[in-house]
Order: sequence, then C-alpha cells, then structure tokens
Amino acid sequence: MKLPVYLFGHPVLRKTAEPVAPGREGMKELVDNMFETMYASEGVGLAAPQVGLSERLVVIDASAVAESFPECEGRKMVLVNPEIEVLDGERTVRPEGCLSVPGLSENVGRTEHIRLRWLDENFEPHEEVMHGFLARIVQHECDHLEGKLYVDHISPIRKQLIKNKLNNIANAKIRVDYPVRFAARKK
Ligand code: NI
Repeated sequence: MKLPVYLFGHPVLRKTAEPVAPGREGMKELVDNMFETMYASEGVGLAAPQVGLSERLVVIDASAVAESFPECEGRKMVLVNPEIEVLDGERTVRPEGCLSVPGLSENVGRTEHIRLRWLDENFEPHEEVMHGFLARIVQHECDHLEGKLYVDHISPIRKQLIKNKLNNIANAKIRVDYPVRFAARKK
C-alpha cells in the first residue's frame, strides 16, 4: 500500500524520532509499504517521519543511481536505529532532492566516508564503512531521524532564494504527482 508522503512544513518532519523496539508490531508491512511508496515516487530513500511516523526507520534502494555511482549497485537496505560515525576524508558538494520537498534540488556538502551501524528489519546488527553517494543517501535519510532536512544545510543566500518555493510547499500551493500530506489544508 502506498502511503502519503508528509511535506515540508509538517511538524512530524522536525521531531527527533524514537528508537524502534524489537518486536515492533507491523514491521514487515510498514517496511513493504515504505518501499512501495518510495518506488512510486522514484526516490532512493525514505525515512519513517516522511510517512508521518516518528520512528528511527529508513528504507533505501540506491540501485537506480548505480550507473552514475557504482557504490550504489544492488544497495537495498532497511536501517533500524542507524548510527553514523563520520570518518576522516574529504567533503563533496552535490545536488540533493527530497520527496518531502518536491520540485526542488539544491547543492549540499556532505562527508564522503562514514561508518554505519544499524539493525535490519529482523533486528540483526550490521556495521559497514560506506563511501560516496551511498554515504550521502544514508546521511540524508538519517538527518530525517533528527528532524533535519537537506535545506537546513544550504547557504543562507540560497535559502532566501528558495524561500517562496518552500512556503508554497508548506501552504499547499503546489501540485505533486504522488500521494502527499500537506502541512496546511489545500486551498
Ligand atoms: Ni529526504
């Protein structure tokens, strides 16, 4: 089942999400629904707050961008209670978008190398060093669990320039071609 994606301006996107407890009821169904929602809106990642649930759960399938970013090949993952450790190394700037901020794309600086610790949907622990665009996707999605959005990372000047567009999203004055939930009632 496709779920509505909560859009910029909705308070659930600004909350710090709660850890997921082992044995959470309906886990498999939620994960399936999140993947379905993500594929339907052509995203490569989706965090639970984006479907209105303030829980530390993320789904990622980065294989769609593997042609440009080989490190993403076959990377389909469920991240429960993920923890990022930033590793030494360069930062890169690349455009990002977000299903909760439709119609926009902005340059964001991120670290290239991370160590990620997480549980999968069966609550089995994993640890892996990740690089490049895969590390970027993970950082973007984990930001959602802290109540952060990629637009928080852009320069004040850029933010000023896109302010009207963000207001239009928050005020339900845009059209989106996947199911969404606006912060304001659509006029
Ligand atoms: Ni996002």
